[in-house]
This record gives sequence, C-alpha cells and structure tokens, in this order.
Amino acid sequence: METLNVQKIVSWVKERFPVDVEGFKSLTNEPVPNHLRHWWLALGGTPAILFVIQIITGILLLFYYVPTPEGAYQSVFKITNEVTFGWYIRSVHKWASELMIVTVMLHMSRVYFTGAFRKPREVNWMLGVIIFFVTLGLGFSGYSLIYDQLSYWATMVGTEIAQSSPLIGGLAADFIRGGAEISGNTLTRFYILHVVILPATLAGLVVIHILTVRLHGVTEFEFEEEKKLERKTFPLFPDHFLTECIIGFLILYLLTIMAILFPAGLGKPANPLITPEHIKPEWYFYASFRWLKLTNIYIGVLGQIFFAGILVAWPFIDQMLEKKFPKMEMSVWIGFIGFSFYLILTVWEALA
Ligand code: HEM
Repeated sequence: METLNVQKIVSWVKERFPVDVEGFKSLTNEPVPNHLRHWWLALGGTPAILFVIQIITGILLLFYYVPTPEGAYQSVFKITNEVTFGWYIRSVHKWASELMIVTVMLHMSRVYFTGAFRKPREVNWMLGVIIFFVTLGLGFSGYSLIYDQLSYWATMVGTEIAQSSPLIGGLAADFIRGGAEISGNTLTRFYILHVVILPATLAGLVVIHILTVRLHGVTEFEFEEEKKLERKTFPLFPDHFLTECIIGFLILYLLTIMAILFPAGLGKPANPLITPEHIKPEWYFYASFRWLKLTNIYIGVLGQIFFAGILVAWPFIDQMLEKKFPKMEMSVWIGFIGFSFYLILTVWEALA
C-alpha cells in the first residue's frame, strides 16, 4: 500500500517535471580523473564552499546591519554583543573571508606551478585572475563596513591609492567615494558593492569558470601509484561530491574553533578628525601597502597595475618564454621569485 503511494507521488512529480534523468546524470556526472583524489590538485572546490558560507552568514548579518555612518558602528556592536549568536555569525563571516582568500591563492598557485594555465586554458586563467581581484574587492569593501577607526582609515587610504591611478584615478576615487570626501555616500556605495555587485559578479564568474573547466576537463596528471590502476577515473557523484561535503564540514569545524578562540573584534568608533597611529589594512594587502611605503605613491600604484597586467597575460608571456628558453621552466623560477617577494613584503609589513 505504502509503496503504491510512493510510486504515485514519484509519477505525479515526473509528470509535472518531465526531466530526462539519465541525460541529466550524464551531464552532471562527468568522470573525474584519479589525480583529483589528491586534495591539493582539487583545491578549487574549497573557495566555492567558503563562498556559500559567506553568502549564508552575510544574509544573516544583513538582518541587523545598518548602512549609515550613524548606525553602522552601533549595529556591528549590537551584533557582536547583544544579538543571540551574533558574535559567532560575524566571526565565521570574518574568518571565512580570510580563508577564502588563502584558498583562492593556494588554488591559483597550484594551477600556476603545475602549468595548468597553458593552452587551451589561457582564458580560464585570465578569468581566474579577475575572480581573484573580485575576491580581494569583497574583502576590502567588507572591512570598510565595520566603521571603527581602523576600518574607516583603511578605507581612506584605499581610496587615496585609487586616486593615484593614471588617467581615470580621480574619477574612479570620486565614484567609489560618492564625492571628493569620505561620507555617508561612501558607505552606501561600499555597502552596495559588498552585498550586491561583487557577490553577483563573483557568482557569475565562478559559474563560467567551472563550466569552462567542465568543457576542457582538468589537466591530466598521472602519479606512479595510479599507473597500475585499471580505472583512470572515478565518479563525480557521489565520490567527489562526498569528499567535498567532508571538506565542507571540516571547514565549518575550523571556522567555529577560530570564532571561539579569536572572535571578530571591534575598535573605537570611526573619527574622521583623529588619525590612528598605525593604519593597517587587512593582511592580504600588507605587501601592497609596504610596496607603496617603499616607493612613492605614483610609482607604487603603477607598479601594481603593471603586476596585475603581467598576471592576466601570463599564459601568453609563458608561451614566449617557452619558445626562447625551452625546457628551462622559466615560469616556475619567476613564480618562485614573485611569490617570495610577496611573502617578504607581507612579513615586513606585519612586523612593522
Ligand atoms: C572563487 C574562486 C575559484 C573557484 C570556486 C574555482 C573553482 C575551480 C574548480 C572546482 C576547478 C577544478 C579543479 C580544481 O579543483 O583545481 C578549477 C580549475 C581551474 N582554475 Fe579555478 N577557481 C577559483 C579561482 C581561480 C583563480 C583565482 C584562478 C587563476 C588565476 C583559477 C584558474 C583555474 C584554472 C586554469 C583551472 C583548470 C586547472 C586544470 O585544468 O587543472 N581559478 N577552479
């Protein structure tokens, strides 16, 4: 009797949604090459999980956050000290944002050092670099919403840096500030950027990115122990999907520990008249901040625009280097030097 009812329900649903189940399976369940069992080669899934966590915790924070200069700090104070589990949601959102940037960097390094950006994946690499900058933009705009002294002055410095960009600098800075000075307009703009424009852009870019990975398939690598295996692939669903779920639970566990041990703090309310002694951006901008201190602001900004251009165009620069210096793995050496430079500047700024 019961099975009959279940069958009836299934056929009722099937009639309303006449989906070709087998076709859907073959579309979504592409076999995954064995090397993706090595977690460092499948790191792309981790920022995707963190992005989902960010969207859920971000929506919860929106219920209490007030995007005005008078209300912003007070609302963050209320979330942290009065709202039930507000401190937890805020801390998870903060730590997940940092972990997302770390994992995007790790995924990018893996793609770079395994040469997975090479033909025919050049465009997907370029898309990835844009994804990376949008992720940094989310971090920067989110930090500015807290409206305590550090976040206010970091936003001030950030917009001044934007102002020093050639040609469009002044226009860009006025546009993001909503005028010549930081004001309520600036907060509104950063708020819209942080909760609508950048997340929507990132979601769209990640979908195109993963679809492109799906079209090309991932770069093939074969490890010694896998050469003996008869099956060269494993199913995306349920095998890879379950692995990603386990990674998701481990991440939530780690974020909870971080939230308990190091809950998101709050400094003194923003005061446009008192410049703090040490203005510090978030750690992922330390290298850029130190670089600006070492050079003058114009050379500093130009240098960073140049670096961003190199990163975007890298697959094509690599092709030229490969032709000129075959078998020398120039991209590995250059990547190693570039990464060490970033690390040295970051540690230098952290210790200053
Ligand atoms: C939110 C950020 C990102 C997400 C969710 C994401 C997701 C993914 C996923 C799921 C894969 C499949 C293989 C793997 O897991 O490694 C992949 C591959 C790839 N990603 Fe990303 N990615 C992101 C950011 C980036 C960035 C910043 C770059 C480079 C600048 C990049 C470049 C690539 C390339 C070229 C591949 C193909 C690798 C291969 O064929 O082995 N991705 N990405």
